Amino acid sequence: MNFNTILVSIKDRIAQITINRPKKLNALNEETISELSLAFEKLEEDQRIKVIVLTGSGEKAFVAGADISEFSNFSEQEGSLLARIGQEKLFNYIENLSKPVIAAINGFALGGGLELAMSCHFRIASDNAKMGLPEVSLGVIPGYGGTQRLPQLVGKGKAMEMIMTAGMISAQEAKACALVNEVTTQEELLPTTQKIANKILKNSSIAISAAIRAVNAGFEDGIDGFNIEIEEFGACFGTADFKEGTSAFLAKRRPSF
Ligand code: COA
Repeated sequence: MNFNTILVSIKDRIAQITINRPKKLNALNEETISELSLAFEKLEEDQRIKVIVLTGSGEKAFVAGADISEFSNFSEQEGSLLARIGQEKLFNYIENLSKPVIAAINGFALGGGLELAMSCHFRIASDNAKMGLPEVSLGVIPGYGGTQRLPQLVGKGKAMEMIMTAGMISAQEAKACALVNEVTTQEELLPTTQKIANKILKNSSIAISAAIRAVNAGFEDGIDGFNIEIEEFGACFGTADFKEGTSAFLAKRRPSF
């Protein structure tokens, strides 16, 4: 896969997408959003891929936000279109992807960058990472799902504080409020993420997809997450992975999914 603003590499059933505009601190412009969206679509279709890791290039930034130079002259209509297209094409798509997506946050994750990391299924950060939603300092609000996903992850009060102050928190503070799961050194960020991805690889990818749908259902308006869990649980019983997983357990051997 050849792109201008991102790099995609594949090794041992794990794909890594690296946002690659280091001179602009990997800010998300229209092209980057389109390329990310296409890359995620292709990796979702690719049967070889079981886990996707998303990171930024360089030592300074994961993503320093949406590219401010692209939208500073936008009208109200253009503004809402920017948010709507971004949310539908990329951020919601990642959240609902059938394969685990892990954000490896290697530096600044600000505005659209933090929103991108929050749309991933979970996050690991290096100790130099700084996270925040600075949009109100620009006279706008988060538009790629930040007002919804930040409260889901850190609670309403902390999210309100982060959004209202437009401040940044450290990787350790982000861990303390459950925004990221682990903090590593910069050198250990990708190896640690890889280790977690390797643990995921041992499990049934069909069951993992079902778990993603069930967990996400609990955050959808008008949907009974418990009921979706029952349906997804039942559907697992009809899969070859269930037969393999349970027979392997009973035969005291490792399952081969
Ligand atoms: N959009 C467009 N360009 C951006 C950007 C963004 N969100 N974030 C950084 N850049 C560009 C800078 O304009 C600069 O480009 P230049 O070298 O052509 O002037 C380059 O990336 C390096 O950034 P710089 O500001 O010089 O780095 P710094 O180390 O002094 O500061 C930040 C780092 C992250 C604190 C600062 O870049 C920043 O505040 N960025 C914007 C964050 C933001 O508000 N994001 C939300 C957008 S909705």
